[in-house]
Amino acid sequence: MYLRIGFATLCLSLTSLCFGEGFYTQKEPTRDGIGKVYMGREISQVVSQHAIRWLERPDREEEERPSLVMENLELEADDVVADIGAGSGYFTFLMAPLVPKGKVLAVDIQPEMLKFIEGKKKLKRQPNVDPILGTIEDVNLPENSVDLAILVDAYHEFSHPREMGESIVEGLKPGGRLVLLEYRGEDPSVPIKPLHKMTVQQVRREMEAIGLEFVEVRDFLPIQHFLVFRKPVQPNL
Ligand SMILES: C[S@@+](CC[C@H](N)C(=O)[O-])C[C@H]1O[C@@H](n2cnc3c(N)ncnc32)[C@H](O)[C@@H]1O
Repeated sequence: MYLRIGFATLCLSLTSLCFGEGFYTQKEPTRDGIGKVYMGREISQVVSQHAIRWLERPDREEEERPSLVMENLELEADDVVADIGAGSGYFTFLMAPLVPKGKVLAVDIQPEMLKFIEGKKKLKRQPNVDPILGTIEDVNLPENSVDLAILVDAYHEFSHPREMGESIVEGLKPGGRLVLLEYRGEDPSVPIKPLHKMTVQQVRREMEAIGLEFVEVRDFLPIQHFLVFRKPVQPNL
C-alpha cells in the first residue's frame, strides 16, 4: 500500500518535473521532434551549434529577406531589444546598429552560440551587444526592461514554451512588443521540416495563453510569418 502510494507520488513528481504543471503531454517522438506536446503541437529538436554556418549563409538575405525584417521592426534609436534564441547572432548584429543609444541582448541556451557572438562583437566592434546565457525555462532578463523581444525561427524548438513565454512576458516593458518569425505552417510549398514551421492560428493560441495581445501578422516575407504581439499595459491574466 505505502509502496504503491510512494510510487504514484514519485511518478507524479517526475512527470511535473519533466513536463511542467500539466501543460505538456508526451508521445512517441516523430522524426525531428522530441515527443513532447504543447497545445496540440509537438516540439521540434533544437538546432545545434553545428548549424552556425547554415545560420550565417550568404544567401540568407535572398532567401528570407532579413533586411525587410529590419525595416518592419520600426526600431527606435534607444530601444532595448532581446534577440531570444539568437543562435549565431545573425539578427542581433543587423539590429545593433539600428539602436545606437540602446542595446541588443542576445539570449541563447548554447554556450557555443554565445562564444560565437562574443567573437563577432569584437570583430564588428559593436559594443551595444550583450550575450546572455538563458536556461530552457528562463530568459534571464530583468523584469519590465525590454522594448522588443524578437524570436526568429526559435520558438518552435523551446522545450518549455510555456515557461519561456511567461519569462519573456516578465522581461517585456508594459506595452512592449514581441515579434515572432516562423516558417509558414499553412504552406506546404515552404521547404522546411514540418515541426520547424508554425501556423498563425497556433502561434496566436500559444501567445494569447500567456497574456499577450495579438497586434497583427504581416506577410511580406517569402517563407515566414512576421507576427506582432504586445504586452498589455494592464495585465490580462
Ligand atoms: C534555429 S536557431 C535560430 C537562430 C537565430 N534566431 C537565427 O534565426 O539565425 C534556434 C536557436 O534557439 C536556441 N534555443 C532553443 N531553446 C532555447 C531556449 N529555451 N532559450 C533560448 N534559446 C533557445 C537554440 O540554441 C538555437 O540557437
